[in-house]
Amino acid sequence: MTFSLSLVQVFSIVTTIIMSHFGKSDARTSLNVLSFGAKPNGVVDSVKAFSDAWDAACEVADSVVIYVPKGRYLVSGEVRFEGESCKSRDITLRIDGTLIGPQDYRLLGKRENWFSFIGVHNVTVLGGSFDAKGSTLWSCKANGYNCPEGATTLRFMDSFNVRIKGVLSLNSQLFHIAINRCRNIKIEDVRIIAPDDSPNTDGIHIQLSTDIEVRNASIKTGDDCISIGPGTKNLMVDGITCGPGHGISIGSLAKSTEEQGVENVTVKKAVFVQTDNGLRIKSWPRYSNGFVERVRFLGALMVNVSYPIVIDQNYCPGDSSCPSQESGIKINDVIYSGIMGTSATKIAIKMDCSERVPCTGIRMQAINLTYYGEAAKTSCINVSGKQLGLVTPSGCL
Ligand SMILES: *[C@@H]1O[C@H](CO)[C@@H](O)[C@H](O)[C@H]1NC(C)=O
Ligand SMILES: *[C@@H]1O[C@H](CO)[C@@H](O)[C@H](O)[C@H]1NC(C)=O
Ligand SMILES: *[C@@H]1O[C@H](CO)[C@@H](O)[C@H](O)[C@H]1NC(C)=O
Ligand SMILES: *[C@@H]1O[C@H](CO)[C@@H](O)[C@H](O)[C@H]1NC(C)=O
Ligand SMILES: *[C@@H]1O[C@H](CO)[C@@H](O)[C@H](O)[C@H]1NC(C)=O
Ligand SMILES: *[C@@H]1O[C@H](CO)[C@@H](O)[C@H](O)[C@H]1NC(C)=O
Repeated sequence: MTFSLSLVQVFSIVTTIIMSHFGKSDARTSLNVLSFGAKPNGVVDSVKAFSDAWDAACEVADSVVIYVPKGRYLVSGEVRFEGESCKSRDITLRIDGTLIGPQDYRLLGKRENWFSFIGVHNVTVLGGSFDAKGSTLWSCKANGYNCPEGATTLRFMDSFNVRIKGVLSLNSQLFHIAINRCRNIKIEDVRIIAPDDSPNTDGIHIQLSTDIEVRNASIKTGDDCISIGPGTKNLMVDGITCGPGHGISIGSLAKSTEEQGVENVTVKKAVFVQTDNGLRIKSWPRYSNGFVERVRFLGALMVNVSYPIVIDQNYCPGDSSCPSQESGIKINDVIYSGIMGTSATKIAIKMDCSERVPCTGIRMQAINLTYYGEAAKTSCINVSGKQLGLVTPSGCL
């Protein structure tokens, strides 16, 4: 029997080889972290392998994929992905494996971040589980003193054109994902899991950033599911399930007297299950030049949520050493539409606005919140605006 290839087959193989080396279309360089010394055995530390793979990717002038195969990788310190001197057109970090933090919480805890992306552009993080093993730090915080602050699991700073898709973040020491001074960031299909009593484990924190989308996320954590800080502009949050957690919060604002505003935020189709708050705007009772303008809360289901709708301009957790001024944060043009479900407390709508700069342009429509089948109540101070159609409980506007 003879083994022969047709001319067409030979031609196609040669073309494929040429294309994969020199072609422009699908010619993505792929770098496997295993060839940089990463070990999928959960024991050998892979910090250096990850940063070496990143440095190599940055040297590739075209598109490049860093591939992390299945397995458990111990990452016991901060991995910094810096983009400033990257030559690549785009970098995809494709992760099929699980990255695990060290047993000793102090190793990560004294760093601000576990994985940080600084000054990157055109970067995609696709898949992967990040298990920071935060519980030992939380017990230190619950019992002791001298505990480190903890590391944020994934932080993006000074970056643009970034996509984070299909990522799972477990038991972060501090925030799970933080976006700071960024532009054009898309976060899709992420899952975030930490217990309801884990301290400061915000799901996704955004500040000083523009053109941000968060779509289809499931967030169970011990603090805000999403927290929206000063300087957030053009944010779309669509299809979030939150709970346990403290809800979706704009704020805390007025942390300082000079602060950028929050502008053009939409939260669509959110589901809150047994959370402390649903849709919340909060500021410290302090003078500040910050503001909140053009916020749309469109469609939310509340399942036994302690405070479904909240504006709190006297925010001061623990009530100790509060600034005790009237908040300077001006809140204007906020729409609540299609908010249904149950409140776990009698006061389902609470708006405690600043006497100095009262809330204006608050609009409510299609709201039906009940308290164990009974009528719920409102509690509102220094608020104006209008309501349309069914608004239960009514009485704020
Ligand atoms: C980012 O990607 C876009 C689209 O692929 C490309 O046009 C642009 O040049 C890239 N930007 C940088 C700074 O490499
Ligand atoms: C939402 O995200 C989950 C992963 O968290 C994914 O399994 C699911 O397919 C996504 N749904 C849609 C409609 O994209
Ligand atoms: C407001 O934000 C949305 C994204 O949520 C964006 O599409 C829209 O262009 C922004 N509006 C303005 C005026 O920038
Ligand atoms: C509602 O939540 C409260 C605590 O927030 C809890 O005590 C109560 O059992 C919950 N009720 C239902 C019906 O789930
Ligand atoms: C409001 O919700 C309650 C309980 O979910 C329901 O029984 C009631 O019919 C709703 N009211 C309207 C006007 O839709
Ligand atoms: C704010 O509310 C308080 C308490 O209801 C009221 O006495 C005060 O006049 C209000 N201030 C403004 C500026 O509306």
